Amino acid sequence: MLRKATKEDGQRLFEWRNDPKTRQQSLNTAPVEQAEHERWLTKSLANPNRTLFIFEENGTPAGTCRIDREVEKDGREVFELSWTIAPEQRGKGLGKKMLGELLALETLRGKLVKAVIKSDNLASVKMVEKFGFHFDRDEKETGIWLLQKKTIVILGGGLFKDSDGRWRTTLGENQSGHFGVLNDRLRVVACAELWKENKNSQIISSGGQGKLKNILPVGLTSSKVIKDELLELGVSAKNITEENKSGTTFEQLRAIKEMIENGKIFGNIHIISNNYHLPRIQAMIEHSDISAVLSGKINLVGAEDVLLRLLPDQWKEFIEQSKKSEAMKKRVESEKKGVEQIKNGLYKFA
Ligand SMILES: CC(C)(COP(=O)(O)OP(=O)(O)OC[C@H]1O[C@@H](n2cnc3c(N)ncnc32)[C@H](O)[C@@H]1OP(=O)(O)O)[C@@H](O)C(=O)NCCC(=O)NCCS
Repeated sequence: MLRKATKEDGQRLFEWRNDPKTRQQSLNTAPVEQAEHERWLTKSLANPNRTLFIFEENGTPAGTCRIDREVEKDGREVFELSWTIAPEQRGKGLGKKMLGELLALETLRGKLVKAVIKSDNLASVKMVEKFGFHFDRDEKETGIWLLQKKTIVILGGGLFKDSDGRWRTTLGENQSGHFGVLNDRLRVVACAELWKENKNSQIISSGGQGKLKNILPVGLTSSKVIKDELLELGVSAKNITEENKSGTTFEQLRAIKEMIENGKIFGNIHIISNNYHLPRIQAMIEHSDISAVLSGKINLVGAEDVLLRLLPDQWKEFIEQSKKSEAMKKRVESEKKGVEQIKNGLYKFA
């Protein structure tokens, strides 16, 4: 159990801080004097950007951990974590337990979390790896580890009403359309498969009513239809966030840009769409005012590529047949035209 530290914890914190192993793994390896420690504790308890905890196991103090809120040079808010387990309690799994409780705190939810760990501190490295941190960079003989959840953004678009009257993502319907066929469902299935590979991933299901605003029932958006389909495929509701304002691909990209700027998503951002759609997305990112924020931060993921890799038995035939169809050829042509227009400055960005 974690509880906030108080002045009464001063002596045990002092002893843990001066334990040789703790010092060895700290950035400042020198022993700390009692008076200096007391000043540090008083300041720490009063610091609004620092929270100091005592971890108790069966009612006995067994470790300490800390959250320090910082603002990086680029304006991003980062929460740095640090920890020590009492010398006599080490190697019993308590470090992992304490870090698990710390990471579950509401304060850290969806935040960028960092740990600074010396490269020879195997126990701490194993702990953070277990919770999905990844090595970011070396800095002054220490490694910087970040807990960055993978974010998968699904771009929604085509919807149709099935024979039961339910709105679904498209899967090859309306083959006669002027711009060819749409296979949005592949994005949803591929996204669910990627989520199953890493259940920490955060999914943004993106899309409002767009061109369908006069047909769709009030309140029903592309993001909602996608969310419901993801839930049916076993994705957990807490991992899905809806972005339900944007009406076009470009507005969806803008919404992603804003989420990055507001710190709602960061790091490892994947945008999933159909293979035929990706070149136009890439062109939009490169040739518009969103480029400064999005360039280099986004991985474009082709839904068909994911399904051929992860579910070939179920989807290979459909994908191959669809590729050969006239309707898909029309779609690919219309996407190519879009890319040309973007590059020539003739595209109407909504
Ligand atoms: C680092 C520390 C918090 C780990 O806590 P702990 O309770 O001893 O660790 P756990 O028992 O939960 O073990 C965590 C993992 O490290 C491994 N581990 C534990 N002690 C280890 C050691 N001395 N060498 C290598 N691996 C070790 C465990 O096997 C476990 O890995 P696993 O999940 O693959 O089995 C604790 O050892 C400590 O306080 N060390 C000194 C201070 C310190 O390093 N602070 C952190 C600065 S970043």
